[in-house]
Amino acid sequence: MTALSSLTDRLNGALKRVPVLPLYAVALIPGVWAFWQALNGTIGADPVRALEHALGLYALQFMIATLAVTPLRERLGVNLLRFRRMLGLTAFYYALAHLGAWMAFDRNFHWMAIVADLTKRPYIIVGMIALLLMVPLAATSFDRAIRALGAARWRNLHRLGYLAALAMALHYLWLVKSWTGEPLTYAFIVIALVGYRFLPKGRKGRGARSSAALGKPARQGTLGA
Ligand code: HEM
Repeated sequence: MTALSSLTDRLNGALKRVPVLPLYAVALIPGVWAFWQALNGTIGADPVRALEHALGLYALQFMIATLAVTPLRERLGVNLLRFRRMLGLTAFYYALAHLGAWMAFDRNFHWMAIVADLTKRPYIIVGMIALLLMVPLAATSFDRAIRALGAARWRNLHRLGYLAALAMALHYLWLVKSWTGEPLTYAFIVIALVGYRFLPKGRKGRGARSSAALGKPARQGTLGA
């Protein structure tokens, strides 16, 4: 046994003891904190923008974490499958909160302005597409939905997550109109993680082996279940 595999075995053993349910609440703490800071005016000079920025970024970061679960398992043997549904749903909740913050604080529920933005501003249309792509994934992220759809159909449906992630990255790049720094880094990470899914099977690492050894069907899609 190599040092790396004994380390991952120990890590996987520790991860198995981490309860998933409380993590749903823990994952929302940064968003609640950003909201609290926005209310108190301590989040930045422009609280509405800063809140939107924080919530949008958390959505993207949790989506990236969701997409990273499979490569981490396949390349490094680190098994985070139990947490994938929580990570994916948290990405969705943050995307919803981001939309809510924009509608409530940026547009003051001024429906004409909202509809105008949704039809005229391309980066907002792309953001909305990303969110809409996540809806069927979130709606079918429960065990009963997986059983009802069947594993193959469920897996195919959850491939929409790759499109959603690409749309999120594009939305970010487009709205900051900058091909440098943070948005570009996120776009590269998303493209690498989505591209990984399309690598020929033989190019993938020890994952297939380790998931077979664990007796786990790799049935979870991008928003996880
Ligand atoms: C679905 C996932 C989404 C992700 C990951 C996401 C991500 C982001 C990020 C990171 C920013 C901050 C950019 C910056 O300030 O530097 C942002 C801003 C923005 N997003 Fe999204 N977004 C999403 C969906 C949406 C949706 C559905 C809408 C509206 C329909 C939307 C509207 C906006 C607007 C208007 C801004 C600009 C705020 C401003 O700076 O004035 N986003 N988004």
